Amino acid sequence: MLSLALDDHRRLRLFEERDAAELYALVAANREFLARWMPWAQGQTQENTLEFIRSGRRQLADNQGLQTAIVQDSAIVGSIGYHRIDWDHRSTSIGYWLGESAQGHGTVTRAAWALVDHALSVWKLNRVEIQAGVGNDRSRAVALRLGFTEEGVLRQIERVGERFVDHTVFSMLAQDWPASPSGSGAHVPGAVGSPAPRS
Ligand SMILES: CC(C)(COP(=O)(O)OP(=O)(O)OC[C@H]1O[C@@H](n2cnc3c(N)ncnc32)[C@H](O)[C@@H]1OP(=O)(O)O)[C@@H](O)C(=O)NCCC(=O)NCCS
Repeated sequence: MLSLALDDHRRLRLFEERDAAELYALVAANREFLARWMPWAQGQTQENTLEFIRSGRRQLADNQGLQTAIVQDSAIVGSIGYHRIDWDHRSTSIGYWLGESAQGHGTVTRAAWALVDHALSVWKLNRVEIQAGVGNDRSRAVALRLGFTEEGVLRQIERVGERFVDHTVFSMLAQDWPASPSGSGAHVPGAVGSPAPRS
């Protein structure tokens, strides 16, 4: 099973079906918080949560990326993963969320660093994208902290509840990625259980 230590207390690991109840409880406890920017959160059920976990396992089996639990001291506090991989164009995008009380400790910045590094250094992709809702300043800050370049705005690209939300597109290219993991504390070592890069 892929498990990646971010530090002594925090790690990323693949979801297991038995995580569905805990993950759903986290979503339910943070529903209003998450639903401000994530359209799936408002209607999420435990059944949907189990299907998310299963689809993430299919995604991994299909060599299309992976979804991980962000775990702090054995409790799931959020999730981060790749939406999909475009192997032809060597490109992917990542998405993330935390429970509200887990914010403010650099957890997602560190986790996203690890996934970006894995995509560019292990899978040898060329581009990683982050889209942040315009006005989602915390998500925007994650991309900027990682050194992503702001490219522009996709207008009304997503419907969140009753509103259409603009997204700012940020990207990191392989040529611009500071490949050394020094200082980050996070590195994906060969990622046991993760798909191989395609030539
Ligand atoms: C987007 C989201 C994950 C960002 O969470 P976050 O806690 O701000 O991000 P991080 O975990 O990287 O933590 C950064 C914060 O920790 C602080 N921090 C502490 N130690 C840090 C470290 N070593 N490295 C980086 N930041 C650190 C930063 O200063 C920052 O706090 P500040 O904003 O008060 O200055 C969170 O707000 C969220 O889940 N929102 C709802 C869902 C959502 O919008 N998802 C994104 C959709 S595009």
